[in-house]
Amino acid sequence: MSEYLPTRNLAMELVRVTEAASLAAGRFMGRADKENADRAAVDAMRLVLRTIEMDGIVVIGEGEKDEAPMLYNGERVGTGILPEVDIAVDPIDGTRPLAYGLPGSIATVALAPRGSMFNPGPFVYMNKMAVGPEARDVIDIEAPVEDNLKKIAHAVGGTVQDLAVMILDRPRHAELIAKVRACGARIRLIPDGDVAGALMTAWPDSGIDVLMGIGGTPEGVLAACALRAMGGNIQGKLYARNEDEKRRGREMGYDFEKVLTIDDLVSSDDTFFAATGITNGELLPGVKYDKHTARTVSLVVRGLTGTIRRIEAIHQLDKLARISPIAY
Ligand code: FBP
Repeated sequence: MSEYLPTRNLAMELVRVTEAASLAAGRFMGRADKENADRAAVDAMRLVLRTIEMDGIVVIGEGEKDEAPMLYNGERVGTGILPEVDIAVDPIDGTRPLAYGLPGSIATVALAPRGSMFNPGPFVYMNKMAVGPEARDVIDIEAPVEDNLKKIAHAVGGTVQDLAVMILDRPRHAELIAKVRACGARIRLIPDGDVAGALMTAWPDSGIDVLMGIGGTPEGVLAACALRAMGGNIQGKLYARNEDEKRRGREMGYDFEKVLTIDDLVSSDDTFFAATGITNGELLPGVKYDKHTARTVSLVVRGLTGTIRRIEAIHQLDKLARISPIAY
C-alpha cells in the first residue's frame, strides 16, 4: 500500500462560509433590498473566512459592477497560516432574484493555490462557453455557434436538436439566441446566475449541455474552479462594453482577443469550491427557515480528487443566536 495520506479538504471548511452567507442573505428574499442582502452575505462570509487556517488573498470580488459592499480585492482572509491561497467570492450570485423573490440565487466561494487564479482587474464581463466532461475537448469559443453545437452534440451522443443551451436572458444575446435557434438546438434562458448555469453542464441529468454568452468575469473564474474538478471545460474571452473600456484594458495589459482557457482561468488542479442555495434553483434548493431551524443544501467540490459532495445541513437558530454576532 502507498504511503499516501489524505490531505485537508479546504472545501469542507468553505461550505461553512457559503452556508453562513446563505443563511444571512436568505432572510432578504423578496424584500427588494439588494444592498442589505449583499451586506448580510458579505459580513457572514467574512466572519467564517477569517477562522479558516490559511493565508488567503481575495483575488476575485465583484464590487465594481454593482458597488456591492464586497470582500474587496486584495483583502487578506484566514488566520494567516499556510497554505497561501487565492480566493474568489460571490457572496450572492443572483442578487436580483434574491431581492425580488425569484429562483436561482446562490452563495459561492472558490479557493486555489496562490497565483493560480486569473485576475480580471476591473473588467467585469466575459464571453463564456462551458460544457461537461463528454464535450470538454471539442469546444472552441472562436468557432461559429453552429460548429460548436454540432461537435457538442456528437460528443454527447445526440443530435443538435437534442441539445439544451443555457443563456442569460439579456438583450445583448439576441444574435446568439437567433443563431442557436437557427441550428435547431433548444434554449434554456436564465434571468441570472451563470455560475450555477455553468456547473449544470457538468452535473449529471441536469439536462443542460452547454452554457453560452456574456456574463460576469468573477463568475467565470468561480465556475472554472468547479469545472476543473468536475471534469468539464470552460473557455472565455474578456468582453469590453465600450471603446473606452477596451483602451483601458490595453493600457493595463489585458488582451480582449485572447481566448482564456480553463488553465488560464485557474492554473492548478488543487481547487476547492463550495456553493449553497439561497433561493430555490435547479441546481440547489434555497434556504428553508422555521421557528427553530434553518436548512441549507450545498455543493462541495475538490479539484485534486474530483469528489463532489452534496451537503444538507440543519442549523439550530436558537443555539446560533447565543454564539454568533450574525443574525441568521
Ligand atoms: P450578481 O448577482 O453577483 O450581480 O450576478 C448575477 C449575474 O446574473 C451573474 O450570474 C452573471 O454572470 C452576471 O450577473 C451577468 O451580468 P449582468 O446582469 O450585468 O448581465
